[in-house]
Amino acid sequence: MQFSTKTTALSNIPTSCLILGVYLNGKLPEATAAIDKASGKAISRLIKAGDISGKTMEAVVLHNVEGIKAKRLLILGCGKQSDFTLKKFTEILRHAVPQLNRHSIEDAVLSLTSLPVEKASIERKAIQVAKTFTYTEYRYKETISKAKAAQKIKRLAITCTTSERTLAKKGLDIGAAIGTGMNTARNLGNLPGNICTPTYLGEQAQSLAKKNKLLKTKVLSEAQMKRLGMHSLLSVGNGSDQPSVLIVMEYQGTTANTKPNVLVGKGITFDTGGISLKPGAAMDEMKFDMCGAASVLGTMHALCELKPKINVVAIIASAENMPSGRATKPGDVVTSMSGQTIEILNTDAEGRLVLCDALTYAKRFKPKTVVDIATLTGACVATFGNVVSGLLSNDDELADKLYQCGLDSLDPAWRLPLWDEYQKLINSNFADIANIGGPRAGTITAGCFLARFTKEYKWAHLDIAGTAWDQGQQKGATGRPVPLLMEYLLNN
Ligand code: BES
Ligand code: MN
Ligand code: ZN
Repeated sequence: MQFSTKTTALSNIPTSCLILGVYLNGKLPEATAAIDKASGKAISRLIKAGDISGKTMEAVVLHNVEGIKAKRLLILGCGKQSDFTLKKFTEILRHAVPQLNRHSIEDAVLSLTSLPVEKASIERKAIQVAKTFTYTEYRYKETISKAKAAQKIKRLAITCTTSERTLAKKGLDIGAAIGTGMNTARNLGNLPGNICTPTYLGEQAQSLAKKNKLLKTKVLSEAQMKRLGMHSLLSVGNGSDQPSVLIVMEYQGTTANTKPNVLVGKGITFDTGGISLKPGAAMDEMKFDMCGAASVLGTMHALCELKPKINVVAIIASAENMPSGRATKPGDVVTSMSGQTIEILNTDAEGRLVLCDALTYAKRFKPKTVVDIATLTGACVATFGNVVSGLLSNDDELADKLYQCGLDSLDPAWRLPLWDEYQKLINSNFADIANIGGPRAGTITAGCFLARFTKEYKWAHLDIAGTAWDQGQQKGATGRPVPLLMEYLLNN
């Protein structure tokens, strides 16, 4: 999809559809009032007749309006003027898409970017526009005979003043890149486990690097990981016929001696629980257990589109967690790359087992910070539902930054305490650490486990078990937390 800016008077813009807003009780924003005037009060008449009152989610289309060059007007209810937040703004955009599709509109001009939005710059509004319209473009196709109808709109211009133009364009580029990255993450997440294997994830990373000069990728084999001593990671794939991999992607947008931010993704392409087998209900959703890895790949894709002058390293720890005669058993003890031994009391707590070796491997990049992203605990879903991601960190400044980035990008995360009092829950009688901490504080004890491998750098953990995919009728990967990660990387 193509995005652009328009600074000319609205009534002079030739377009298939001009999108206007109306606040609650028929209050007209400046842009809408200008069209109302040019059209001899076409919009005022509509309000008087009771066709639209300005409530959010209202939408009316007008054809052949006199005095303007647009073929149609799409008038959207924007709710209370005093309550026009970035969330509301975005919700209205999302709602506009099916309206545009219904009328087969291929090009449009959006004037909502000229409305003041609480605490949001023109750049921020532009990001939300391009992100939303790119996001809604996504259709899952791979394993469906007849795909859903494509999104109709191909070209969208947003209105702004001449002095806002540079920032508006910048925002559109960022938003389009984030949307593209989210769609990459969604598609990888949605693919079934029999297609999206660890090997497949490695191939996707390689093909992204082939198309982008700034990106280098290598895929470490089981033999290579064995030589590095990654026996914790390798223990997870023991029961599977699919070989495990460690994917390493280096995005270099600036000088080689600039320290990178490192992202680490959990890439369990299917989580049966292993010998500690999961119950059958909804087990299919454990194909989404690689959504941390998918968000990391999606973020790398977004960086390749945008080419910012930063360095980022992505590490993906990928395995399939299966029961078999060769699978890890409860009580088995393995030695991690760090040298710490781990008693595997529950083979279903496998995410932390693959992550800990990837986190040890991360040290070699002398990272500025390390952020891992993982669908790690059911406890996180119980705590936060699908609204916010869990955030745990050994560094207050990093935690504060990620928290703020979450709010700004509308992809929020909320911090949980990673206090020493919780560490004793994962002590073991037969190894240096146990891989579970009992039924209580499950998200925190999982964080405590990872914290034992991240003492040498500033680190944060995002538990996206609740936010990475939607359940039920709308079942599908969400592309979160690509917006949060991009916000963090671009502002850092
Ligand atoms: N991938 C799951 C976590 C999960 C469960 C994510 C449900 C989303 C929805 C993870 O590997 C897991 O099984 N965790 C266990 C840990 C427990 C055994 C300590 C869990 O949360 O039950
Ligand atoms: Mn599990
Ligand atoms: Zn898992």
